[in-house]
Amino acid sequence: MTARFTATEVDPEDVDLSAPLGSRTLPNPLSTASGCAGYGRELARFVPLDALGTVTTKTIMPYPRSGQATPRLAETPSGMLNAIGLQGAGIEHFVRHELPWLAERGARVLVSIAGERLEEFTETAERLNGQPGVVGLELNISCPNVADRGLVFARNPATSYDVVRAVRKITDAELPVYAKLSPDVTSITEIAAACVQAGADGLSMINTSLGLAVDLDTLRPALAGGTGGLSGPALRPIAVRCVYQVHAAMLAGRIPQVPILGMGGIRSGRDALEFTLAGASGVAVGTALFQDPAAPQRILAELRAELATRGFAKYTDAVGYAHRPSSPAGPPRRPSSTERPS
Ligand SMILES: Cc1cc2nc3c(=O)[nH]c(=O)nc-3n(C[C@H](O)[C@H](O)[C@H](O)COP(=O)(O)O)c2cc1C
Repeated sequence: MTARFTATEVDPEDVDLSAPLGSRTLPNPLSTASGCAGYGRELARFVPLDALGTVTTKTIMPYPRSGQATPRLAETPSGMLNAIGLQGAGIEHFVRHELPWLAERGARVLVSIAGERLEEFTETAERLNGQPGVVGLELNISCPNVADRGLVFARNPATSYDVVRAVRKITDAELPVYAKLSPDVTSITEIAAACVQAGADGLSMINTSLGLAVDLDTLRPALAGGTGGLSGPALRPIAVRCVYQVHAAMLAGRIPQVPILGMGGIRSGRDALEFTLAGASGVAVGTALFQDPAAPQRILAELRAELATRGFAKYTDAVGYAHRPSSPAGPPRRPSSTERPS
């Protein structure tokens, strides 16, 4: 039986929550997950945007898109299916109308971008170079590549590499570029390795997993598009597994070490801590926002308390802590930076 971890409690107020985003340091590790708080306007009524580590935008494409036909959302046990289809007003609208509004509020904006072909990623990324408020780009490579028989970029190491490489080449060197990975692959470490080799400064993990629900009244798929992405608590063990596997590959030297932004069903500080211990250097809240738009601040306060109870004076000391070698039961010890596996 594994010995229960015990440590001397620290004062929650003393916990240093600063967290990395690429080479930058954020005041705290909590972000919104892309697509779950629009471009931030809806959320600002409930949470001061500058209180979050980052605000991640809904994925932006080079041009306006109306998305998929409705119904686009379906409830399932412990999760939700969505097939929004990257609806949005396009990059020009975002840069002119949404980004200045976010920057005025002091939000640190992680801009999620996508394209149906490589050039659409680079075109959108280029428009964001040097824009105020932008602290990083998140490449949503989980959309299909129209030039490649509709295959999803993130399902293939070569196409994942190509997108990250192309965007990295044309963006300012100091602007962190994160690749957002799909869990629907045979080996997530292979895709993660390709992205980091291509120059990704970090990895966002994970996007939704493909699912389907059948409506028992219409006897048809519940979503107009048939399949949809599963999010929420049902996704959490899969997401934690993905983060753990990729962090383990980093510790083993198979992937250069970069920060992981973990997400998938986070509803509480305990959930956020689980991702952190598995290897996430930041956490994002998505589906929980639909039920509780004020969740980010509550989760951050809970995370602070959970860290303090376990003796972590610094958030970064807890990152990957579940990977430390098991040792024979000894006197309870307080974790420290030097003890942390890295
Ligand atoms: C309604 C909805 C819309 C989403 N839109 C996007 C999107 O535009 N881009 C993206 O990368 N991920 C999108 N996602 C995925 C989330 O960012 C997140 O990766 C996933 O939902 C897992 O986190 P959660 O369980 O906390 O929601 C969306 C998820 C939902 C539920």
